[in-house]
Parts: sequence; C-alpha cells; structure tokens
Amino acid sequence: MGHIVKTPEPLESSYVPVSLVNRREQLEALREGVVFPVENGVSSNMFIYGQSGTGKTVTLKFLSGLESGCFFHYENAISAGSFKRIVVNLLNSLGKQISEKLPYDSIFRSLKRSTEKPIILIIDECLNLVKTDPDGLYNLLRAAEIYDIHMGMLLASVDNPALHMASREIRRLGIFNEMKFHKYSTEDLYEIVEDRGRISLFDGALTPEIIEGIASISSRSGSARMAIEILQKAAFMSEYENSRSITMENVRRASSMINPYITQSKLMELDMKELLILLSLCQVLEKNGEATMDGITDQIRINFEAGHQDPPDVSLIYRAIRHLESLDIVESSRESSGRSTGVKKRFFMNDVPVSILIEKIYEIIE
Ligand SMILES: Nc1ncnc2c1ncn2[C@@H]1O[C@H](COP(=O)(O)OP(=O)(O)OP(=O)(O)O)[C@@H](O)[C@H]1O
Ligand SMILES: [Mg+2]
Repeated sequence: MGHIVKTPEPLESSYVPVSLVNRREQLEALREGVVFPVENGVSSNMFIYGQSGTGKTVTLKFLSGLESGCFFHYENAISAGSFKRIVVNLLNSLGKQISEKLPYDSIFRSLKRSTEKPIILIIDECLNLVKTDPDGLYNLLRAAEIYDIHMGMLLASVDNPALHMASREIRRLGIFNEMKFHKYSTEDLYEIVEDRGRISLFDGALTPEIIEGIASISSRSGSARMAIEILQKAAFMSEYENSRSITMENVRRASSMINPYITQSKLMELDMKELLILLSLCQVLEKNGEATMDGITDQIRINFEAGHQDPPDVSLIYRAIRHLESLDIVESSRESSGRSTGVKKRFFMNDVPVSILIEKIYEIIE
C-alpha cells in the first residue's frame, strides 16, 4: 500500500463534493429563477453556459441534492441523442415504460399522469441537440403551457445555445433566462484542490506549495476540471514512485499529459462541418506552424470533398472559426500586412498538440 492516495473517488471528474467553492450565487440564482417558481406551479427554464471545468455539471447535480419539493431528473444530451428520448428516459425513471415512436402529445399526457410532483429536467451538454433537434426543444419548452405539466428545464453547455439558434427559433421559444459560469480564479482553484486533496489523500501527501503550483497552472484556463485532473495524475505518479509526498516535477509531468482545451465534451459539441474545418486548420498548422485564411481554405475544400459535404462559403467558415475561438480551441491574431490590403488574421493553437487533436477528430468523424 502506498503513502499518497487514501480514497480515489473524489479525484474522479464525476464526483460531487459536499460543498462547492464559489458557486453560492449561481445556486441561489438557480433556486430563485427555476426551482421556487416550478415548486409553486410556475414553469421556468434556464440556459447555463460557460467554459469546460467551470462547474456547470457539478453545480446542477449539487442543486438536485438540495431539499426541495421537486423531482429532479438528469440527462446527458449527447448520450440521449434526441429530446424525445430524454422525455422517454424521464418517464422510465418515474417507473413508466413508453415507446419513443409515440407522438409528443401522448408522451406528455403520459408524463402528466405519472407524477404529482413538479419536475425539474436537467439537460447537460445540450448544444448539439439544440442545433439538430430544434422542434424537440420547442416541444419540451412549451410542454408546461400546452399540456399543463409542472416542469422546468435547466439546459447546460459550453457555449450559449441562443447564439446557435436562428432568430425565428428564438422568437418561437419566447422568453428564457440564461446564466454564464465564469472561469475560476487562482484562489478558487487553490481551495478546490485543497478540499479534494484533504478527502482523497493521506496527511502530508499534498503541501501548500504543490496546491499553489496546481492552482497557478490551471488558472489560465480557469478550469477546476484541469486542476483536479492534474492532482489525480500527479498523485498516482507519486504513489507509483513510492514517495511520501507529491513533487512539483509530478505536477509538471501530469499537466503535460492533459490538455484542457481539447476535452472530449468540447469536440462532441461541434457539428460535422465545424469538425472538418478544425481538422483542416490542424493539418495546415502541422505542416506550417501557422495558418492564414487563404492557407486553410484549400485544405477545407479537400476535407469537405472527402467527407461528402457541399463546399462551405466564407461566412460559414468564419462562423465556425468564431465558435472554435469561443470554445478556446483556436486563437487568432490580427496583423497588418503593411500594405493597402489591410489586416490579415492568423490562427494558432496554444499548447495544443495538433497531431493528437487530428487523431481525436478522426475518431469522432469515423
Ligand atoms: N465550485 C466547485 N467546488 C468544488 N469542486 C468543483 C467546483 N467546480 C467544479 N468542481 C469539480 O471540477 C470538476 C469539473 O467540474 P464540472 O464537471 O462541473 O465542469 P463543467 O463546467 O461541467 O465542465 P464541462 O463543460 O467540461 O462538462 C469536477 O470534478 C467537479 O467536481
Ligand atoms: Mg459538464
């Protein structure tokens, strides 16, 4: 038996701690904006968005564990695949088996009969589904009104879903609330790592200097996911070396093994065209070390052809790149060429090993 890891579970990313660092305001807003109204028979929905590791999932799970008169149901949109499937799964968890082939109105009528309790439906990682199944979203958001169901929804994703809906779509949905989750500060990350270390590691295994080191490395992304992953990897490395405490060298090696900018969940939220554009950018960067718009358009054409997609127009490419930038996958700088042609945009990816990213994209596309 080693000297470092006492209980490994709190080092897993799915772990929900007994208290959250710096998310009291968000929890309050969720209770006030959604839980209380729904408890009192008023339907209310909210979009929650923010970069990877800002605590969206853990805050929503924490919320469902708090005392309330509501029935909470959690779904991951990526694994569910459609909004209808999500309602069918919700019915399942209420003890009712129903076919997905039935139309929405019979499914919702059945839902109305299934429980007296107001329902709060949490749909995590929803961005792709919002884009691919707008009618399903419309049906769900309107269910409360049309079928008189006491239900509220919390939809979470890395990017504001409203930015990916046509204005017609937004008008159709009416008013909804939204809340952004901000990146964690170095102090927040320190507290999160300290808490997690206290419950999972033996006394003395994690010193304040090491916590500081992890907090400082992960503060650029502001991601608690990154901080905890570094802690986990560094702890197991140190355990393997049979040492008594985690060293800064363990931390450095651990952080070089992970990359917060290319988490699977981020890539899964991209549609096929965006994946192909990102792939093209990576391929150009792999060859040249830098990329300009002119440089990537040829590569994009080749990849779209190979992927049996119609060639994209410039506005689609720009929109996709803006999305990649908002996800912190791609960065860009403007450079004046010194001539009348004006500014030129250059794209790059800090810290991202493009060859690994290319492999990941191929995995998803295939
Ligand atoms: N405020 C917090 N206090 C304690 N732990 C936290 C806090 N925020 C996040 N964590 C921990 O950090 C990890 C990542 O958090 P979480 O999965 O909620 O991020 P996310 O915003 O859902 O990210 P993604 O977009 O990648 O799904 C989890 O292990 C979670 O327990
Ligand atoms: Mg999440």
